[in-house]
Amino acid sequence: MAKKTKAKAAKAARPKAAKTAVAKAKPAKRGVAARSVAAKPPKVAPGELVTLLDFVRYAVSRFAEAGVVFAHGTTDPIAEAVFLVGEALHLHPDQFEMFASARVTTREAAAILGLIERRIGSRLPAAYLVNKIYMRGVPFYVDERVIVPRSYIGELLDSHFDGGDTSLIDAPEAIERVLDLCTGSGCLAILAAYAFPNATVDAVDLSKDALAVATRNVAEHRLDDRVSLYHGDLFGPLGDERYDLIITNPPYVDADGMASLPAECRAEPAMAFDGGDDGLTIIRRILAEAKHHLNPDGGLLCEVGRCRPQIEDEFPQLPLLWLDSEDSEAEVFWIAAADL
Ligand SMILES: C[S@@+](CC[C@H](N)C(=O)[O-])C[C@H]1O[C@@H](n2cnc3c(N)ncnc32)[C@H](O)[C@@H]1O
Repeated sequence: MAKKTKAKAAKAARPKAAKTAVAKAKPAKRGVAARSVAAKPPKVAPGELVTLLDFVRYAVSRFAEAGVVFAHGTTDPIAEAVFLVGEALHLHPDQFEMFASARVTTREAAAILGLIERRIGSRLPAAYLVNKIYMRGVPFYVDERVIVPRSYIGELLDSHFDGGDTSLIDAPEAIERVLDLCTGSGCLAILAAYAFPNATVDAVDLSKDALAVATRNVAEHRLDDRVSLYHGDLFGPLGDERYDLIITNPPYVDADGMASLPAECRAEPAMAFDGGDDGLTIIRRILAEAKHHLNPDGGLLCEVGRCRPQIEDEFPQLPLLWLDSEDSEAEVFWIAAADL
């Protein structure tokens, strides 16, 4: 059943890194209390909103009024509005500041207002509306076949695997083989290929839909010669292969969490979240099997959300190193192969 998908390749320049797009679900509730969405969106007269910044301010107010939840690559209504306005105008988020006071045309205004109202009316993640999300400033294609990327591992690859003072490895150039388990859109596999210039990356997912999206992303980043995609159950398709580094953002939401996902997250594939009753079903298997797929000097980097207490209860013998990122505390652990 294992299927390997390789495509054509050429080198791609890495886009400039920007603020990480990661978040927990946050409802917009500053200022005005969340209210039900008006059946008809308010009319905006031509010329009332003039600059990019005006449209961002308007979007933030509309999101707050409608009680929109932010869980998909932006952590708050302002970042979400900047993202949507930027996408409507084909601007990278890094370019927003430069054009914040620029005026928009009538046609552009209609496109922006349309996106704002679709975001509110559909409750779909903004990334699905524009089929794009940025991680570390790197663009990825997304649609409903795949969870919207927002893993903290993207940031940690930059902060803890760069060979610097806080680095967990000696040098990124020394990493030759990386495995991305539960790859989804392929975002982490692709970021790993950029972070470790001499590495080949294998990436696995059980969802054929997700792999179709990952295939597109790998091709768009022209990394087909370095990133190989496999269909299957965790380590199943990999035989006896061993890696210097295993990175994984597996499903880890427990049954209570699954029952209370906000509308925006219910639009995403459930199998991307569902970690079984206590959230640990997949994590347990990864912890049990990872040592058979790591080189002696290798290590496992695993995102677990808020499962730290359960993991420490169940695996007290494991010296897990808990890592923080800009927007998370102890939601990702590192463990060396020798300690597994
Ligand atoms: C939380 S998502 C992470 C996706 C991506 N790595 C990211 O960070 O955006 C988890 C992924 O695991 C996949 N998955 C679920 N169960 C799996 C299994 N048993 N083996 C491989 N992949 C699995 C889902 O299809 C989903 O794409």
